[in-house]
Amino acid sequence: MSVSDLFEPLTLLHGPAMSNRFMLAPLTNQQSERGGFASGFDQEWIEQVARGGYALIQTCATTVEAGGIAFDRQLGIHSDAHLDGLTRMAASIRKSGGLSAVQLHHAGHRARPELGGVPAPASDATLPGIRALSTEQVERIRDSFIAAAKRAELAGFDGVAIHGAFGWILSEFMSPLLNDRTDKYGGTVENRARLVIEVIEGIRRTCGPAFQIGWRLSVERYGLRLEELREITGEILGRELIDYLDLALWDSAQIVQEGSFRGQTMLSVFTSLPRGGVRLGTAGKIMSARRAAQLLDEGCDFVLIGRAGILQRDFPLQVKANPFYDSPKLPVTAEYLRMGGLSERFINHMRGWPNFVSSSERVRARSS
Ligand SMILES: Cc1cc2nc3c(=O)[nH]c(=O)nc-3n(C[C@H](O)[C@H](O)[C@H](O)COP(=O)(O)O)c2cc1C
Repeated sequence: MSVSDLFEPLTLLHGPAMSNRFMLAPLTNQQSERGGFASGFDQEWIEQVARGGYALIQTCATTVEAGGIAFDRQLGIHSDAHLDGLTRMAASIRKSGGLSAVQLHHAGHRARPELGGVPAPASDATLPGIRALSTEQVERIRDSFIAAAKRAELAGFDGVAIHGAFGWILSEFMSPLLNDRTDKYGGTVENRARLVIEVIEGIRRTCGPAFQIGWRLSVERYGLRLEELREITGEILGRELIDYLDLALWDSAQIVQEGSFRGQTMLSVFTSLPRGGVRLGTAGKIMSARRAAQLLDEGCDFVLIGRAGILQRDFPLQVKANPFYDSPKLPVTAEYLRMGGLSERFINHMRGWPNFVSSSERVRARSS
C-alpha cells in the first residue's frame, strides 16, 4: 500500500469512524496538577496534537483510583472533581475533528507510596510484607475502571483505551509469574484474563452504544507468556469485545526470539488471529511515512505514533504533505522541543528518556 492509503477512513464497531489511520499513542508527560487535575500544560499539549491531523488521540495514562498512581503529576479520572479539566480536553479534540480516548490506568503492584499510591499486588509473593489483594478488592478496582470510563463518557470523550500493558495491574493479573491466586482471578489462563475481560464487559454495559473501547497489550517482561497472550487476545477479538487492539511494541519490526513463534514478527503473531470487525494497530519506532505505510501491508489497520509525535506534533499532517517525511534524528536539543511548543515540564520528562534530549542539554539541566 502507499502512503495515501494512510488517509483512508476506518470504521469502528461502535461510534464514528476514524478519518484516517493515525492514532496518537498514550504519552505520560507529568504536567498535571498534583491530585490529577488537568493543568494548562495538559490542555495546551492536547490542543497542539488535536491540530495535528490524528484520527484518534489517546490521553496519557490516567489514574482510575488515587491509590493506583505511578507517576508524579499524573492525570486522574478517579473523581468527579476531574471532570472540568477532562471536559475541556475532550472538547478541544472534538472541535478539531478527531476522536478521543482516555487511557485508563491502575499501577497495581507498581503503585508508588511516596505519591500516595497503595501497592496492589495480585500475589503475596510479589512485594515483601504486602498482602495480595482480596477478591473484593480486585472487584473494587474492576469497578473503578468502569466508573472511570463512565466519567470519560460524561466528559465528552468518544471512548477509553484500557491500559493492559507493561506490568500494570491488568497485565500483572495475566502473568503467571505475578499472579499465583487461587480465587477466580488466578490459576488458569481464563481466570488470569478474567479481570481485563470483566473490565471491558462492564464498560460496554455501562456506557452508551457509541462508546469506543480500546485495549493496549504488551508482550515483554513481567513473566508474560506470548502463547497465552495470543490465546487471550484471540478470545477478545473473536468475541468482538473491543473496538481496537493497540499493540504496545517498542519496535514494530520486533522478531520473536523463543517459543512456538520464534523467527516470526511479533506483529504477525497477532495479525494472524481472526479479528472480525475489531481494528488492530501497533506502536514502535514508527518515525517515517514509509514505515507507517509498510505496517498497513503487514496487516495493521492503523498505526500509533509515540516519540515521533513529540518531535513533531502534527506528524500526520507532515506525512500528508510529504510522502517521504522522516522524523528528525534523535537526540534533539531541548531548544528544538521548546521551539516546537513543548512545555518545560514535558521537556524535563523527556530528559528521563534515553537518547531523546541531547546529553549536553541534560548536563546543563542537572547543573542548573
Ligand atoms: C514520553 C513517553 C510517555 C509514554 N507514556 C505512556 C503511557 O502513558 N501509557 C502507555 O501505555 N504507554 C506510554 N508510552 C509508550 C508509548 O505509548 C509507545 O507505545 C512507545 O513509545 C513506542 O512508540 P514510539 O516508538 O512511537 O515512541 C510512553 C512513551 C513515551 C516515549
